[in-house]
Amino acid sequence: MNRLLNLMIIILSISVILIKGDYLEYRKVHLVDQTTPLGNGNINYLFRGNEPKELINGTEYFAYEELINCMVNNSLSAGVKLPPQFIIVDIKLIYGLIDEESDIELEQTFFNANPQYGEFGTNVTLGDLWDPNFLPERDVKNWALNLSDWQHDNLPHRIPFYHDLLYTQHDLPLILYIHCECGCDRTGEVFASYAMKYLDYSFKESMEWDYKIAGRRIMINHQFASQWYCYYLQVAEGMTIDCSPPPLLE
Ligand SMILES: *[C@@H]1O[C@H](CO)[C@@H](O)[C@H](O)[C@H]1NC(C)=O
Ligand SMILES: *[C@@H]1O[C@H](CO)[C@@H](O)[C@H](O)[C@H]1NC(C)=O
Ligand SMILES: *[C@@H]1O[C@H](CO)[C@@H](O)[C@H](O)[C@H]1NC(C)=O
Ligand SMILES: *[C@@H]1O[C@H](CO)[C@@H](O)[C@H](O)[C@H]1NC(C)=O
Repeated sequence: MNRLLNLMIIILSISVILIKGDYLEYRKVHLVDQTTPLGNGNINYLFRGNEPKELINGTEYFAYEELINCMVNNSLSAGVKLPPQFIIVDIKLIYGLIDEESDIELEQTFFNANPQYGEFGTNVTLGDLWDPNFLPERDVKNWALNLSDWQHDNLPHRIPFYHDLLYTQHDLPLILYIHCECGCDRTGEVFASYAMKYLDYSFKESMEWDYKIAGRRIMINHQFASQWYCYYLQVAEGMTIDCSPPPLLE
């Protein structure tokens, strides 16, 4: 548990800079995946993004319409037309810190007041402190095999869980919106992992995608977590995937 404590302290110090006051940014919102037509003909959609919040005359609101505009617009540029009606399952990736509470409340209050629009939940996402690049290959393999026993975020369980959510049939089409504050680090970890498992990305490609959206490298603990998951896919699931990291210098 010591490692978890260290991780929390690091995140705490970084979060003072990164966590506060992010507003929805169009460039962070991306259509990542969609299902084939489900039993009732609906297609469900998976998006990544950042905090769906806007500031109007000094008051913060849940940016529902703006979020939809970003989604519609981003899908159109990918050649996909979203259906006119849908529900949103909005999952906020959190560290579990006090200063996140106002944004959690903002989102929860919105969906409590508008249950017809969908629902809201949170998932604690911390990353890993342990760098797989400096371990002997045999150790990396052994630890990757039992990743779900020791990794806080348990990506071997979490990523298929999101995929199952995406493939869940509802009366209306579903938009699964997974985000954090910046849409960079926690979101970057989750979507890099999703892209490696389901979209044929190598680890390096998934990081380059994250860096491009974030406009910078992502926090190293989140990068380590995705890389561990890459090794897990290799050794536990027998996937052919390149887990070498992007070069340190761009
Ligand atoms: C913001 O405040 C200005 C000036 O008080 C007002 O004209 C405007 O309608 C307000 N905007 C919204 C969206 O409430
Ligand atoms: C939607 O995309 C177009 C370009 O495809 C852009 O000009 C427009 O500003 C975008 N609208 C919003 C609300 O982001
Ligand atoms: C993640 O969020 C979903 C949706 O709210 C919830 O069902 C699930 O139990 C959460 N998982 C974890 C590990 O927190
Ligand atoms: C995971 O595997 C490593 C290496 O084989 C072993 O030392 C460690 O005890 C295992 N950890 C857990 C939590 O199962």
